[in-house]
Amino acid sequence: MFFDSFWGMFSSDLAMDLGTANTIVIKKGHGIVLREPSVVAVHAETKQVLAVGGEAKKMLGRTPGNIVATRPLRDGVIANFEVCEAMIRYFIQKAHNRRSMVRPRIVIGVPSGITQVEKRAVRDAALSAGAREVFLIEEPMAAAIGVGLPIAEASGNMILDIGGGTTEVAVISLSGIVYSRSVRVAGDEMDEAISSFIKRKYNLLIGERTAEEIKMTIGSAFALEKPQTMEIKGRDLMAGIPKTLVINDAEIREALAEPVATIVETVRIALERTPPELASDIVDKGIVLAGGGSLLQGLDLLLREETGLPIIVAEDALSAVAIGAGKALEDMSLLRKVSI
Ligand SMILES: Nc1ncnc2c1ncn2[C@@H]1O[C@H](COP(=O)(O)OP(=O)(O)OP(=O)(O)O)[C@@H](O)[C@H]1O
Ligand SMILES: [Mg+2]
Repeated sequence: MFFDSFWGMFSSDLAMDLGTANTIVIKKGHGIVLREPSVVAVHAETKQVLAVGGEAKKMLGRTPGNIVATRPLRDGVIANFEVCEAMIRYFIQKAHNRRSMVRPRIVIGVPSGITQVEKRAVRDAALSAGAREVFLIEEPMAAAIGVGLPIAEASGNMILDIGGGTTEVAVISLSGIVYSRSVRVAGDEMDEAISSFIKRKYNLLIGERTAEEIKMTIGSAFALEKPQTMEIKGRDLMAGIPKTLVINDAEIREALAEPVATIVETVRIALERTPPELASDIVDKGIVLAGGGSLLQGLDLLLREETGLPIIVAEDALSAVAIGAGKALEDMSLLRKVSI
């Protein structure tokens, strides 16, 4: 008790969306204080952490032999415990202006499909990174709170969160998740689909970051009003030398067809499994989209066409989970109700 208030004096409670692609940290009373890619660069032999976040992301695919830039989370869960712990520690300290003597309470968003073992890993990583207490909140619930859905009412709300590693769809009513489904197909899979398409069609090898850039620039799920092209660079697999070529949006739409179809199918299954009363609420209110993947051009139009329902992309889709976790941090009774 004494130590709790002791540490409480030096630490601000945090809410963290520990995403596969991006980590966002909210500090109680301050709003979003940090938004960085979930990437860590470590020395291959000494395992020393060399850079975290934006700085480390720039190194992805560009590191010399003795440095490895890795993403400690894959498919929404921890893939490399030590590196993830180091990353959380870095973010906790950065949120506290690099002071190291801090022991905050932290609310962390986790995918709804996560196993007990995976949950424990997140909790343990945060505790050994310096948290004094950890609350876990399911990401779709956090996203729903974040976008301001009336989760406490006896009425169905459907949220679709498309991140880097996972796509999660959930139906929420009376502060609980009535139905949820998670698939490990999201932004990363889209990037991979683009890479393999370009390799197959043009014998051109492109990096992870280039693939993401293509997706964000001319990627789409539905025919665009104005065709778009983009110049890309990679390594020609036949000649073995760097090469530039121009690709268009139709090709990238073709490349993205499979992951996009999986996402549509996930929504369709969720709608089929939703209890009828709640389904009729969703017919009126539609589906709210969150997560960076929901920013893919035309995805809302495609989902509207495929489901016949209103589709609303959240205003700040990338921050929805963090904002929701932050609201729970500010409201203890809400946190008690929704933490797992
Ligand atoms: N404009 C855009 N168009 C398409 N995709 C985008 C756009 N902006 C961001 N993304 C993608 O969104 C993904 C990141 O979204 P987000 O930050 O919500 O994921 P995350 O929370 O880190 O991952 P997860 O929830 O799966 O753990 C990346 O794959 C990124 O490429
Ligand atoms: Mg996310």
